[in-house]
Order: sequence, then structure tokens, then C-alpha cells
Amino acid sequence: MTALPSSPQPTGDEGEQARRRAGMPSARFRLDRHLLPSSMRAALEADVRAGLTVSPKTLPPKWFYDARGSELFSRITTLAEYYPTRRERDLLRAHSTQIAELTRADTLIELGSGTSEKTRTLLDALRQADTLERYVPFDVDESVLREAGQAVAAEYPEVGVHAVLGDFEHHLPLLPTGGRRLIAFLGGTIGKLMPAQRAAFLHTLASTMAPGDALLLGTDLVKDPVRLVAAYDDAAGVTAEFNRNVLHVLARELGADLDPEAFAHVALWDPEHEWVEMRLRSRTDQVVQVLDLAVPFAEGEELRTEVSAKFRRSRVANEVEAAGMQLSQWWTDTDGDYALSLSTKGVWFHRALRPAAERADTQLLPG
Ligand code: AVJ
Repeated sequence: MTALPSSPQPTGDEGEQARRRAGMPSARFRLDRHLLPSSMRAALEADVRAGLTVSPKTLPPKWFYDARGSELFSRITTLAEYYPTRRERDLLRAHSTQIAELTRADTLIELGSGTSEKTRTLLDALRQADTLERYVPFDVDESVLREAGQAVAAEYPEVGVHAVLGDFEHHLPLLPTGGRRLIAFLGGTIGKLMPAQRAAFLHTLASTMAPGDALLLGTDLVKDPVRLVAAYDDAAGVTAEFNRNVLHVLARELGADLDPEAFAHVALWDPEHEWVEMRLRSRTDQVVQVLDLAVPFAEGEELRTEVSAKFRRSRVANEVEAAGMQLSQWWTDTDGDYALSLSTKGVWFHRALRPAAERADTQLLPG
């Protein structure tokens, strides 16, 4: 839609130093907006209208993440029960060098970048491989995007940061192209898409990829349901509060008349779909007023707020293949809790995935 702020001024190193001393944003930082506050509000309204007037009731998980929701999610990632973040961090630390050597990416795109914390590992490895030129954080939350993007711009003076404010279900085709791109989609976030949405997402993503581009995907794996449910129903109640936060968002953003405490947190394992589901269960018979709707909840009625799909290697392989990519690498921890995988498009990249010494032939091939 719009490209803001005004395009960066080319400055030499001295200009850059002076800017930094003055606490000004780096000249190597730019942000493109594909989301405006008004369109986000319209999207929230549409989701509320659609989700609260059907049975069973449902709301999409993206509305958890206002400032409070993002803070609660950060706390979740430190909980003893919530293993995915730690597993992924360890896998990134163990394999980033290889990822950098295999992909030789000049552009790192990160979908749902958040605080860009884990990204540092990848950025360091790509810098070590001496290929890194550009970092593209992509997120729906402008404040976190701006802060994280500017921090990376300051810490990696040789890297251009091109932040994109957008929704990965709508704005993938607007991501910058060119060069060799490594597209990272970490944290198991792909699991919150329903199967049809996930197929559409992977298909759109693959259609924006050129030979030589790669997708680095983080996926939580199927395991003992007791551990899975505990990860979404922690003893300290942080996840319960995170779940109820969507109700706080409805109250604040849409003036909904409701009491978040009148809903209980529910987490369950669905063995048929192989996903964890979060729900909010009405503690009483009640009517929630929101927009021009009077939404009745029976006592015990549940509103689905999130699914978090868990994967097996075969499912990841099948789904990326159906979208036109190939699963090229699969890394997991010794317990098989979590996986990082690298998928690519086209035969060219497959050849490039061999060690550098065997790779002399790849220069001759299109890319
Ligand atoms: C950010 C979607 C990956 O599904 O594990 C954590 C969100 N929800 N606890 C996940 C979440 C409840 C998380 N993702």
C-alpha cells in the first residue's frame, strides 16, 4: 500500500556515526507498511462478526498480540513446560553455520520476526560466511518491528535492514526479491495455520521463491500428549492469561462488554488433527455485547482461540512438496521434540547443497 517513512538518505560512515551518536534512526533502516491501523481494526471487526456468530465459536490467534499479549508470550517462552523455544534456540546454535554455508544467502527474511532475538544466530553465521547484505524482518506489530529492526541495523553496520509491516497470510508477494534469499519462519508459528490456510501459505511462498532461495522452517513435533498439553497449560497460569488476553483486546479495541475472568482456559490435544487446541470456556450462562452483536454463551460453551499443529517429518515433506518445494535438510534434537528444516525450490539448489568443494558445477547453471 504505502511506503513509509521517506526513503533513506545515502550517507557515508561519518553521517552514520553522527546519527547513531545523536540517537537518530540508522540510514540503513527502512520500513514499508502494508498494514494500517484502520485496516487492522476492520479485520478484527470482521473476525469477531464471523467467529462469534457461528457454532462452535472461534477467533483467530493473531488478536492475542497487543503489547500485553506479546509480553505474556515472551514469558511463555521462558516457562519450564514450554520447550519449543529452547529446543529451537539450541538447534539454531548447532546448525546455523551449516545453514549459512548451504544457502550462502545475501538476504535473510524473517516472517513473524518479533524481537528478532533468535535471528542473531543466523545473522552471525551469514556474516561469518561473508554473504550477508540485507535483513528483512516482517511482522504485524509495528512497534516491535521498528525497535528490533533498528537494533539490528545498529549492531550489524554492514547490513541493510528493510522492515516490512504486514500479515504473512496476505503480503508475502510484497517481500523484497532478488539475490539469494533465506526465508526463516521460526517458532513453530506455521502450526497456527489451519491445514487449508497452511497449504495456501506454502503455495504462495513457493511461488515467490526463485531457485537458490530457501525456506528455514521451525516446527514442533508430535510427542507425548501429556507434555504437549502441559506446554499450553502451565502451572503458573501464564498461558491461561495469554489466552484470556484476546478478551482484553476485544474489550479495549471494540468496547466489548465482557469479563475475561468469566472464561476458563482450556488446552487439549486433538489426536485426529495432531494439533493442540486452546479454548475459552464460559463459566456461566452469559451474553457478551460486542459491536452491534449480543453474543450468547451457554455455561460450559467453548470458544476456540488457537490451534497449534504438531508435525512429523513426513508431513513437512509432503506439504512443502505439494507447494512446489523439496525438503532438503532436517535437523532435530535427540529427544525428537522439535525440528528445523530447509526446503528449496528447483534442482539447482539441490546441487548447491553439496559441500563447496563439489560445487564448482553450480556456477554454470541458471540461478
Ligand atoms: C507462537 C504460535 C508458535 O503455538 O506454541 C504459545 C503460541 N500459544 N502458547 C505456539 C502459543 C500458547 C505459539 N506460536
